[in-house]
Amino acid sequence: MNRFLFPRWINKFVALAGLFAIGGGGYAGAMFMGATDDLTLNPGYQPTQPVPFSHKIHAGELKMDCRYCHVNVEKSAHASVPPTATCINCHSPIGEDGATKLSAVHPGSEKLRAVHESWDTDQSVPWVRIHRLPDYVYFNHSAHVTRGVSCVSCHGRIDTMEKVYQAKELSMAWCIECHNDPAEHIRPRELITKLDWEPEDGQTRREIGEALIKENNIHPRANCAVCHR
Ligand code: HEC
Ligand code: HEC
Ligand code: HEC
Ligand code: HEC
Ligand code: HEC
Repeated sequence: MNRFLFPRWINKFVALAGLFAIGGGGYAGAMFMGATDDLTLNPGYQPTQPVPFSHKIHAGELKMDCRYCHVNVEKSAHASVPPTATCINCHSPIGEDGATKLSAVHPGSEKLRAVHESWDTDQSVPWVRIHRLPDYVYFNHSAHVTRGVSCVSCHGRIDTMEKVYQAKELSMAWCIECHNDPAEHIRPRELITKLDWEPEDGQTRREIGEALIKENNIHPRANCAVCHR
């Protein structure tokens, strides 16, 4: 059959319509599955990790900044879990080593076995992912933390958790509620990882947030295409 039987623009149109049909179908299907996705809407989800790593010790008692381990959180969409080399800075399996500046905290500990195995074999520690949005939702850490939204608004008091659990629902309503009225959740940028921060006497979170919203022109949008691209 002659492929020029119809004007070319019709071919193009049919191809585009097909794309929409497939894309749209897949999208709706994914959304349907998303609505029943337990992992997204599961506050309290607290899987057992291959290493009994404690944020309460490291971020709480030792006061390590979140960004020491979650180095990308201000720069990229993903916060990422740290590579084994980050742990080895302090938990070297071979003992103190002045030359490489590694130190050995609990070098023979059974609790660190999976970390040391990972270091020896070059395979990452198989950390279990806790927070997970469906693939059809676009989320970006950098867009939030660089505008003064603290980790605590979305993850709770991680610095007091012996074992991390999902603190919030991560539902669409939860996202949009804050996008419509973010003032209580905006703080000076240098305080985003200070999870126990309280405003000074006489000021409220809302007043501080409202001033920063004006100053930095912060206006989260809530139209569908912001989160479903
Ligand atoms: C010493 C390194 C280290 C520091 C410091 C640290 N974390 Fe983590 N974080 C980890 C590791 C390792 C995991 C994966 C194991 C786990 O879930 O406990 C993790 C997991 C998480 C998760 C869950 C990720 C998922 O799978 O959904 C969140 C949220 C998190 N950290 C937030 C924070 C916050 C907020 C701070 C600062 C208060 C912080 N972390 C400080 C190493 C660290
Ligand atoms: C800046 C140094 C430092 C880094 C980096 C660090 N830790 Fe630690 N970690 C410590 C210290 C100090 C302790 C001991 C706290 C105590 O005993 O009170 C500890 C304790 C632990 C323990 C308990 C060990 C036991 O036998 O009681 C585990 C497990 C652990 N860390 C895992 C990790 C993992 C996993 C990472 C990397 C994601 C990591 N640590 C990164 C300093 C560090
Ligand atoms: C506006 C809410 C929000 C803020 C603020 C936020 N997070 Fe998250 N975080 C999420 C969501 C939602 C996910 C799941 C992302 C996904 O599935 O794509 C997540 C996932 C993570 C993960 C798992 C790895 C990843 O990137 O998916 C880590 C680690 C984490 N966050 C750490 C942090 C730290 C540290 C901070 C503060 C510096 C922070 N988050 C601030 C909402 C937030
Ligand atoms: C606690 C408040 C808060 C929550 C919860 C929150 N956001 Fe946001 N969001 C913001 C703020 C503030 C901005 C920055 C707006 C600006 O820059 O003007 C933003 C911006 C964004 C952007 C725009 C980034 C860009 O590149 O333009 C996206 C996408 C986004 N949020 C998605 C989400 C999703 C998805 C969720 C839920 C999983 C969520 N947000 C939950 C406060 C929040
Ligand atoms: C600020 C981010 C954000 C905006 C804006 C947003 N969504 Fe969502 N949406 C989400 C998140 C997060 C989920 C996943 C929650 C879940 O697993 O139920 C979701 C899930 C969905 C779902 C499937 C789950 C369900 O509840 O049925 C549909 C359909 C949907 N969104 C449509 C829309 C439409 C239409 C708009 C515009 C009116 C919109 N969304 C705007 C974040 C957003």
